[in-house]
Amino acid sequence: MNGLKVLGICGSLREKSTNLGLLRYAREKAPAGMEISLANLADVPFYNADRSEKPPAVKTLLAQIASADALLLACPEYNYSFAPALKNALDWASREPDNQLLAGKPAAILGAGGGLGTARAQYHLRQVCVFLDLRLLNKPEIFCNAFDGSFDERGGLVNEKIQQLVVAQLAELQEWTALLRR
Ligand SMILES: Cc1cc2nc3c(=O)[nH]c(=O)nc-3n(C[C@H](O)[C@H](O)[C@H](O)COP(=O)(O)O)c2cc1C
Repeated sequence: MNGLKVLGICGSLREKSTNLGLLRYAREKAPAGMEISLANLADVPFYNADRSEKPPAVKTLLAQIASADALLLACPEYNYSFAPALKNALDWASREPDNQLLAGKPAAILGAGGGLGTARAQYHLRQVCVFLDLRLLNKPEIFCNAFDGSFDERGGLVNEKIQQLVVAQLAELQEWTALLRR
């Protein structure tokens, strides 16, 4: 499939985030025909319906989501759920008329965190994605331990097995997106 645009959205705002490291690795290893860009949530404020105009960072985010063929959601686990920055990004996107930015859009999830590798958070995120009508890729699931040496001090992914999983997930996402377009 040619010209597939994927937007990576990371729920951690940390500069040395391991979840961002997963997305950076994905961007570097994107297969032929896929281009991955990364959203920046650092300046995206909490959704507030009272705002008469969207702040510039929100406009940028929504434009990036609109032009993406698929989403790659990097999901840190905070207190057994997914991080608020990611929820907030989805909340903003969901308020566009008729959920037009998200409905039917293919998406994949991966994450790095404590012992369960963000499994609990990812399953909360999956539940939310059902309501948002995103078309989630089921497998491979990617649950990474952020503290076992799989990432370097800058959050870069150095674990070979996880590297292979990320590459495999991108290939599946590419195929899944093509299938949904048929
Ligand atoms: C507020 C907060 C709550 C957390 N709760 C959990 C948790 O419930 N389960 C878990 O596995 N890790 C938890 N962690 C650890 C994060 O998953 C870990 O810091 C992870 O590396 C964050 O991702 P990052 O490297 O992309 O910033 C928590 C971290 C924070 C800051």
